[in-house]
Amino acid sequence: MATGDDRASSAGSSRRQFLLVGASTVAAPALAHAATESPRAAQTDPRAPVAMTLNVNGRDQRVALDVRTTLLDALREHLGLTGAKKGCDHGQCGACTVLLGDRRVLSCLTLAAAAQNRPVTTIEGLAGADGTLHPMQQAFIDQDAFQCGYCTPGQIVSAVACIKEGHAGNDGDIREYMSGNLCRCAAYPNIVSAIKQAKRAMATAATGSGQ
Ligand code: FES
Ligand code: FES
Repeated sequence: MATGDDRASSAGSSRRQFLLVGASTVAAPALAHAATESPRAAQTDPRAPVAMTLNVNGRDQRVALDVRTTLLDALREHLGLTGAKKGCDHGQCGACTVLLGDRRVLSCLTLAAAAQNRPVTTIEGLAGADGTLHPMQQAFIDQDAFQCGYCTPGQIVSAVACIKEGHAGNDGDIREYMSGNLCRCAAYPNIVSAIKQAKRAMATAATGSGQ
């Protein structure tokens, strides 16, 4: 039969075991964290440049960038392509629009590292090699579709994609699918006219080239 002393000893032992187990349970992750994270943290500098290749306007461009660099900053600050504009830098104005493949994207919200596997087209890449303007560029001039011009590169790139997406069937569609591109000068009616002119020219060019 257990005596009072045995029970007291047993209870004391249980408390010690509980405290030891509890302490080791709490300490183990912290120790494991210290053992594994410290060397890793010492080796990894998140700001260290990472080599990457961007295909921009038909040319491969090798750059070394902080992985947090946006496509817009890569284009403007590292590749000298300042056509895409930094309006809001928050995805709200469309001034930074470029094409990634056939898709229009806001380059201020796109990481350069994420753009490596698809061709990037900026406003600088729309004209022909001989300098002939893209039908959309020509239409913006013909229709007087800009005033200060700050939003214009984004408008033109976005408009090219708008037509290719099949979203330029009528004025309402054009306004709806171009609504992400703001124009502080309110050149909207002329922009719609330019897109309609360019749509006809692009269809004629596609027919002429057998596409
Ligand atoms: Fe990218 Fe305004 S600068 S949406
Ligand atoms: Fe001035 Fe659009 S032409 S912001």
